Amino acid sequence: ALISLRQLLDHAAEHSYGLPAFNVNNLEQMRAIMEAADKMDAPVIVQASAGARKYAGAPFLRHLILAAIEEFPHIPVCMHQDHGTSPAVCQRSIQLGFSSVMMDGSLKDDGKTPADWDYNVDVTKRTVDMAHACGVSVEGELGVLGSLETGTAGEEDGIGAEGVLDHSQLLTDPEEAAQFVKLTHVDALAIAIGTSHGAYKFSRPPSGDILAIERIKEIHRRIPNTHLVMHGSSSVPQEWLKVINEFGGAIPETYGVPVEEIVEGIKHGVRKVNIDTDLRLASTGAMRRAMAQKPSEFDPRKFLKASTDAMRDICIARYEAFGAAGQA
Ligand code: G3H
Ligand code: 13P
Ligand code: NA
Ligand code: ZN
Repeated sequence: ALISLRQLLDHAAEHSYGLPAFNVNNLEQMRAIMEAADKMDAPVIVQASAGARKYAGAPFLRHLILAAIEEFPHIPVCMHQDHGTSPAVCQRSIQLGFSSVMMDGSLKDDGKTPADWDYNVDVTKRTVDMAHACGVSVEGELGVLGSLETGTAGEEDGIGAEGVLDHSQLLTDPEEAAQFVKLTHVDALAIAIGTSHGAYKFSRPPSGDILAIERIKEIHRRIPNTHLVMHGSSSVPQEWLKVINEFGGAIPETYGVPVEEIVEGIKHGVRKVNIDTDLRLASTGAMRRAMAQKPSEFDPRKFLKASTDAMRDICIARYEAFGAAGQA
């Protein structure tokens, strides 16, 4: 059944677990997520970016999610729009039937330029007024996502601030978060706590204090009824990097956010954990390996099945680690 983000995350908060929010672009990702959720009896958040809409087309994307709901009627599914760049984009998604939208007013509508406070409050508040009138939830974002190691957003294409960022922008201020929620009434708030989008988050193995846990605690204390969202939460599995590079790929040494750190964040109020890169890496690795191991094969379903299985296993591991198994 289709369910709003507010309903899903209220349940997660009440029962102290976190939910992965997986990005979806194609059939294989959708199947992987649903097979994992079905196996683990977990609720689902699927999110579609502007890039996904460009790739699959809005009608295909929408019907892919609706098909998942039809095939797995016992699983609650939130259909969320990732990184909306304007109230107009969010309005369009609401018309398409999304049950949740993200208005990312931390960046201007080019998706690159850090926006000021008044802009963010204005676009977010307008989106909340519109969405709540339709029973749709809203996620806002305060602070600019970027690596504390490099001071950059890490993503070359897609959503991410340009240039080197001021260190103070990279951690969301708790007092500002309280003020922002009071002015906008968002259901969920994405906070900057040391993560960045994409595969290149950290150049050295994480030492165990990658996330600003104290900051998460302080923000959660100020806004206990607003669900905290962590973007850039891929763990960048080293085993999949190895497979990719073993079978013809060329990905330099890089690290993500360890699952244990995410679990620590969930203990202190993080409820929605955005993951895209991990499924991309697993999918690419599985396809490269399947193609290399059977060069005579030309039925793409064989490669795509390997991709689906690899992504499904990542989803299963995240549902389990975040405490979402058995909560559907
Ligand atoms: O926030 C970024 C997500 O990973 C979506 O990426 O814009 O390339 O679809 P994308
Ligand atoms: P990753 O690139 O770490 O998977 O983050 C995805 C994300 O935040 C989507 O909004
Ligand atoms: Na989002
Ligand atoms: Zn994101």
